[in-house]
Amino acid sequence: MHQLLFFSLLPLHTFSATFTALCARHHLPFLVTPIVVALVAALLLSIHQWRHHKDKRLPPGSMGWPYIGETLKLYTENPNFFFANRQKRYGDIFKSHILGCPCVMISSPEAAKIVLVTKSHLFKPTYPPSKEKMIGPEAIFFHQGAYHSRLKKLVQASFLPSVIRGSVSEIEQIVLKYIPAWEDTTINTLQEMKRYAFDVAMISAFGHKQDSEMNGIKQLYHCLEKGYNSMPLDLPGTPFNKAMKARKLLNETLRRLIKERRESGGGGGLLGVLLGEKNQKVDQLSRLSDSQIADNVIGVIFAAHDTTASVLTWLLKYLHDNGELLEAVTKEQEGIRCRINESNRRLTWDDTRHMPLTTRVIQETLRTASVLSFTFREAVEDVEFEGYYIPKGWKVLPLFRTIHHCADFFPQPEKFDPSRFEVPPRPNTFMPFGNGVHSCPGSELAKLEMLVLLHHLTTGYRWQVVGDEDGIQYGPFPVPKRGLPVKVSPRKIKAG
Ligand code: HEM
Repeated sequence: MHQLLFFSLLPLHTFSATFTALCARHHLPFLVTPIVVALVAALLLSIHQWRHHKDKRLPPGSMGWPYIGETLKLYTENPNFFFANRQKRYGDIFKSHILGCPCVMISSPEAAKIVLVTKSHLFKPTYPPSKEKMIGPEAIFFHQGAYHSRLKKLVQASFLPSVIRGSVSEIEQIVLKYIPAWEDTTINTLQEMKRYAFDVAMISAFGHKQDSEMNGIKQLYHCLEKGYNSMPLDLPGTPFNKAMKARKLLNETLRRLIKERRESGGGGGLLGVLLGEKNQKVDQLSRLSDSQIADNVIGVIFAAHDTTASVLTWLLKYLHDNGELLEAVTKEQEGIRCRINESNRRLTWDDTRHMPLTTRVIQETLRTASVLSFTFREAVEDVEFEGYYIPKGWKVLPLFRTIHHCADFFPQPEKFDPSRFEVPPRPNTFMPFGNGVHSCPGSELAKLEMLVLLHHLTTGYRWQVVGDEDGIQYGPFPVPKRGLPVKVSPRKIKAG
């Protein structure tokens, strides 16, 4: 189960969700008969599919047992080995059968590019229905074509460097609210980073104006999050059920806020952009509906904060473990601090553009940690792919982590070595933010959040990991065990 979560993607689509859904069903004894029927049906379906595909050249690989496929193997082996072994045995494109779905795993940059970029129209994004329901079916992640590109333009417009450069001081204010409170205490790094990234996501979504509804939105969001990675069992009292109720209330709150904003004509952030206030060409008829706006605001906040918090947690871990690097980053940040103090001003966007070493440390963290280990697509029709045949409906998984850990592109891949980014990586080998039409519109904001936090943390503080460092906690993203508890103390500046 844990290993499975390790490979979860955006919290939106996890293998685990599908898995827990399956478990929930399987553990109920009164469903034994339907299970037998389902197994027989699955067997018949497999025979039918085998007959249908037998003349075409499917990718090499094992489909394992009927219905369960290779699921048990994925759970009982280290997932890194699971993928690496198959890649070694079958090559960069191989088939498997996981959690009831036939799938094709892609571990070459060229093939991943075809799926995500050049032939992206043939591979649609795919998510478990429970996730779609919880985020909202009209959110950007679930769409392709005209509606997707319309939304993408709007979301991208909210997170362009020219827009987020104006947020540096607000982001810094948030950092300065959190860090001093950590002094001389032991913090759970992941939890604190989540709080930080959530606050940044909120100002990005709603602008700097604090609406009366903000606190309510925050609380409902936390409830939604708790149920998000739980079993999708909609029975009274389950976390999923509570989350669905919170989702309904969140929708009502957002609709009230949308109404207020439409009437007042004010407000910034993504919400402002989606309301079309800044675009005079948007007439009444072509406006996005309230539910389209609500689903996308909720979706973007979701995508923005857990991902960023997980990477921030790894950043602290790697800097903690690499003392010399921490000192070198501190030196770079002190140079900036000196300039800021001399001209008696605050940290600016331009300062963040002059942090080359810190930026490489972030890049190397994104590569090493690969918090989004892969993504899911589904073939929309039978596809001829690199000499193979991918049947309609099969899942296709570009394996980001496998590509990021391939020694051909990143020599000594397990070594944490930011200097490898002194030379740009080969095209399509470094995809922490995805690639193509669905690539991440929030990448610049995420990096900005990291730079601002590291500026204050490295120049003013040091942190020690508390307790045994015992590996990785898998879920929903891979992060250091127990969320990396650390004791934070003020930095002692050496004399001379
Ligand atoms: C370090 C932090 C982050 C990482 C590693 C990350 C990674 C990714 C990746 C890999 C994808 C592509 C998924 C796919 O192709 O299926 C993606 C999509 C997305 N991300 Fe991020 N992300 C991060 C932060 C953010 C932030 C801060 C925001 C919001 C401001 C954001 C908003 C989105 C959205 C809206 C999409 C969907 C785009 C689409 O479907 O067209 N992400 N992200």
